[in-house]
Amino acid sequence: MKKRAYYITWSTQDKPTAFNFTGSKGKYFFSYDKKIWDCLSTSSQSIFGHSDKRIKGEIKSQIDTFCVASPKADTADKQIAAEGLLELLGLKGKIFYTVSGAESIENALKMARQVTGRDYILARRNSYHGATLGALSVTGDWRSEEHLSLGQYTIRIPEPFEDPTGEKTRAIVEKEGPEKFAAFCLETVSGISGVIVPPHSWWNAIQALCDEYGIKLILDEVFTGFGRTAKPFAFHHFPQLKPDFVAMSKAITGGYVPFGALYTTNETFRFYKKKILSCGLTNYGHPLGLAALKAVLEIFKQPGLQVELDSKAAYFKKKIDILKERFQIEEERTIGFLTYLKFKKLKSFKLQTFIDHGLYLHAKKNVIVLAPPMIWDEENFDTVFAKLTKILEDHYEKQAL
Ligand SMILES: Cc1ncc(COP(=O)(O)O)c(C=O)c1O
Repeated sequence: MKKRAYYITWSTQDKPTAFNFTGSKGKYFFSYDKKIWDCLSTSSQSIFGHSDKRIKGEIKSQIDTFCVASPKADTADKQIAAEGLLELLGLKGKIFYTVSGAESIENALKMARQVTGRDYILARRNSYHGATLGALSVTGDWRSEEHLSLGQYTIRIPEPFEDPTGEKTRAIVEKEGPEKFAAFCLETVSGISGVIVPPHSWWNAIQALCDEYGIKLILDEVFTGFGRTAKPFAFHHFPQLKPDFVAMSKAITGGYVPFGALYTTNETFRFYKKKILSCGLTNYGHPLGLAALKAVLEIFKQPGLQVELDSKAAYFKKKIDILKERFQIEEERTIGFLTYLKFKKLKSFKLQTFIDHGLYLHAKKNVIVLAPPMIWDEENFDTVFAKLTKILEDHYEKQAL
């Protein structure tokens, strides 16, 4: 390969974690013409696979109609997509369009601060909210340390497993002074960083603090939105939650067009009735993103979809349980089409090994994360898990500590 004229993200540039990609179709992509099962839905966005006809069809027809529209343009699709999205969320309120997950978070932070007149945000250490400076200021992993951001306005709360009833979080809020906090910014279920599903008791405590002290609840559903947890949104597993903001992106268009959206309540909307909304972007409500989103919303209207998702997710879990019987797994957390597996007695996985065997997934140290598309059938799960079992057997043979 020629020397790259571009960067590879989140890597040193001398030996970056990269792989060859020559195209994609349906459930696969191709690496040097080798068929690779996309067990991570790319980065969770291609949950409908790589060539969904409905999404492609809407985008193609939009290209022939118009490709560009002013952010200020009132278009029919802005209205149709917003109404459809609110229905899928099951919430009353308004939609602000963006083009990425980080921008959805940025705008949530900006609005939450303006609406409350408060500066501080409560966030978890084990979290990722995006690579822009505002989103990094609430991100808790190593990436937040790398750049100058508004991190001094973020107060960290304990992880849900350290504080299942939320008492420690309450103590922090009350000690610091609840009136300084604009919002909690939290992934409803964390993605690659560990698939942490907080218990109901923790969410009850967070919601109670929001209700009691007027702290806004920003839910980051960038990774988990649009079916990843086998429900439209992860917060649908927690009916007690009343989010003030829901940040969305990735699968909102199946990943076919960079796009995102932020849900806000009507209360937030009313704040901007007389005050100028000092938030916006050139590609606000981009026509191609809206076209793709309309198709995604239609997919969720298919009769029987929820039953199908539940049954596929149950089959996925069954395959994981079989894997657990076969190998020593130290930690396993699964929800819907998302699983985190930490293996005992193994040194380190390498992405390329999986690619060589026809699987794409997240692999780091002795951990793998799978986030398959919702379009796999039982046979597809069988094929992939047979390949995975073979790779794991090889690893145990060669690497066992
Ligand atoms: C939970 C979460 N929030 C925000 C983001 C940022 O999204 P984007 O990369 O589209 O800016 C990501 C990306 O991986 C994410 O997983």
